[in-house]
Parts: sequence; C-alpha cells; structure tokens
Amino acid sequence: MVEIALSSFVFLMAPLPKGRPTVCLIDSEALRWNFRQVRETIGPDVKILSVVKANGYGHGASGVARVLEQAGTDLFGVATLEEGVELRQAGIRSPIILLAGVYPEQVDELIRYDLTPAVSELAMLRSLEMLARGRGASLNFHLKVDTGMGRIGFIPVEIDSWLQELAKLEALKLQGLFSHFSHADSVTGDYTRCQLEVFGLVINKLHERGYDPPFLHIANSAAVITFPEAYLNLVRPGLMLYGIHPSPETTHHVSLRPALSWKTRILQIKRLPAGASISYGRTFITPRESVIGTLPVGYADGYSRLLSNRGVVLVRGKRAPIVGRLCMDLTMVDLTEIPGAGLGDEAVLLGRQGGETISADEMAGWADTISYEILTSIGARVPRVYYSSKED
Ligand SMILES: Cc1ncc(COP(=O)(O)O)c(C=O)c1O
Repeated sequence: MVEIALSSFVFLMAPLPKGRPTVCLIDSEALRWNFRQVRETIGPDVKILSVVKANGYGHGASGVARVLEQAGTDLFGVATLEEGVELRQAGIRSPIILLAGVYPEQVDELIRYDLTPAVSELAMLRSLEMLARGRGASLNFHLKVDTGMGRIGFIPVEIDSWLQELAKLEALKLQGLFSHFSHADSVTGDYTRCQLEVFGLVINKLHERGYDPPFLHIANSAAVITFPEAYLNLVRPGLMLYGIHPSPETTHHVSLRPALSWKTRILQIKRLPAGASISYGRTFITPRESVIGTLPVGYADGYSRLLSNRGVVLVRGKRAPIVGRLCMDLTMVDLTEIPGAGLGDEAVLLGRQGGETISADEMAGWADTISYEILTSIGARVPRVYYSSKED
C-alpha cells in the first residue's frame, strides 16, 4: 500500500497499475460516507437497496458492492442477469434484484445464482412460473408497477387481470412491489405525488386481496433526499451513493462526497507556431504560438467526443482546454497558460486538483448530457483503483 498525504487527508491506496496511466480512483470512504447520509436521512426503520447497475455507475460494481455490503446495505439492484452473476461471483451474498427485465432462457441462472427478477408484464410472469414449477424450484420476484414512467411495469388500471394471475402462482413468491418516478432529478412536482398516490392505491388493493409483499419501494435518490412520504419500507438510491446530487435543488439537504476521480498523465508536449492544426478535421488552429499536450485517453475510454473544443482538464491546479477533436485513444489540451507543465504531469479529467474541481455535472454540461451518462460511460479499459481517504 502507498500512503500519500494530501492537505488534511491521508490516502491509503493500492498500487497504481503499471503502464498506461489513465485510471479511475474510487474512494471507499466516500462511498461509506454517502451510504451513511442515506441511512441518517431515512432513519433506522427503512431498508436500503443500493443500486449498483451499469458497473456501479461506472465505479466498478463488485468493488462498490463489497464496500456497501460491509456498510450495511440490505439489498442490491442491478439491471441485468449478467450484472447479478458478476456480484455473486465476487462473493456478494445480499439479495440482488434485477431491475430491468429478465428472459425465460435465464431461469436456470436465476435459480443457480439466487437472483430476484423484477417482473413487469403478464407473459413473463406466466413463463417464469411455468419454468420454475417445471424445475421444482421456487423463485422470489418483485412486481413492477408503471405508475406513470411509461417504461416497464404492470398498468394499474389492469390490476384485476394481474391479480387473477398472482392467485395462480405456486413457484413464484411475491417478495416486493415497486415503481419508479419519472422525474429523476426533482421529485417535488404534482406528477410525482400523483405517481405515489397511484402506487398507494395498488398497494391497498393488494392488501385487500390478502397479499403482503415484504418490500414496497419507489424512492430514488431525489426522493430519498426530498420526499420522505415515498420511503415506504425500502428506498432505492443510486446516484447519491456515488456522491453526486440528482439536481442542484438537493445540494442544500445533504452533504455528499464524489467517490470517483479520473486521471491520466501527459504523454507528449509540443511547442507549435501560430496556425498549426490540431487533430482530425482541423477544427482547432493555434491562434498563437502554443504549448499543446497530448493525453492518453479518448472516446474509447468513454471520454466523450462531445468534449472536443469544449471540455477542460486540470494540470498543475489550472484549467487546460481540450483543443481539436478528441480521438479514440488520445486527447490534446492547450497548456500555453500553464507555465512549467511537463511530460508525465498529472491531468485530472474528473475530480480535484489543487483548488480546482471538475465535477461530473460540469462535464455533463459540456457534453449535453447528465452525470449518470458521464459516469456509466467510463470504459472497461480504464482500471478502477480503490483507496480509502480518512480525515486526520
Ligand atoms: C428502477 C430504478 N431504481 C432506482 C434507480 C436509482 O436512481 P437514482 O440513481 O436517481 O437514485 C434507477 C436509476 O436509474 C432505476 O432505474
């Protein structure tokens, strides 16, 4: 382990991979801190399903899940069967819910890896029941209700038909009932309240018919932070666990710590005269004699090509603009205003350096997208290195 003292923090870090220096550093202490903020916000009686789909929002699913399992999460949520299998193979023992759909041919793996599918329509409910029954197995499932997201889920007005189907189940066990808000960033509007009301009606109807699923859940990060009525008995945060706020409105309610920083080192530096052209398509021509640095990171690492001539990186605590088109594996930055910048200097793509920070939200603004996409796009060839920061 390498110990690096930096301002008031001490970092205990696993050795960095040798060779290409483009890495994401994941602070497990920040993950624990964010998890505690969820726990403190919702109180001790509501359970937590930590959403670690899409490779733990780009932070590395199994690395994040190990930290959050130790921190006390009750369940995990992933999108796909493969993501669930990855967690089981990494030794994760907590219940894992597959939130984004399953397929009949996956039934054996569902059983083998003890994964809990979300079921969102009748044909799948029937198929899984038949297949599980045929294998003499029992399979927990969570039933998804579409209260207004318009994506997947049973439609509330058709409740009588799906209640009839629930009555026939033998192999499938209803373990949870859930829905999803359509406003991921802000849940304060009337539409969100309406979704919660519809969900309440569905819950009541199930109770009237004698069903009492152990888990009822609808709250994403934004609802965890600002909408306690939506907690029910389980919340389902994703983004906030990684230290990112779902919207500027939520920043006043809870203090989060971004867990991921993305860094590389300068691969080459050139001094070029005015009028030199940089990268494909000649979209940047040096307006003066310039110092141009090349970074070993590109869109094949998930560093969006939309950052071309728009994004910045941090070098020596200063902002260096990206110039010209960002390439598959390489990106050029203008170092003219950063005296002394040298080969091998650290360049921060996301995170803090000196007094400057680039947040996922800021990067998302340059790329016309949202922080979720920035994080989940970071590619498989960028190693994730875990460390723990602790206040002195
Ligand atoms: C079904 C479901 N639940 C929970 C979440 C977590 O949402 P957030 O990251 O906004 O907390 C997501 C994220 O997309 C989701 O699709």
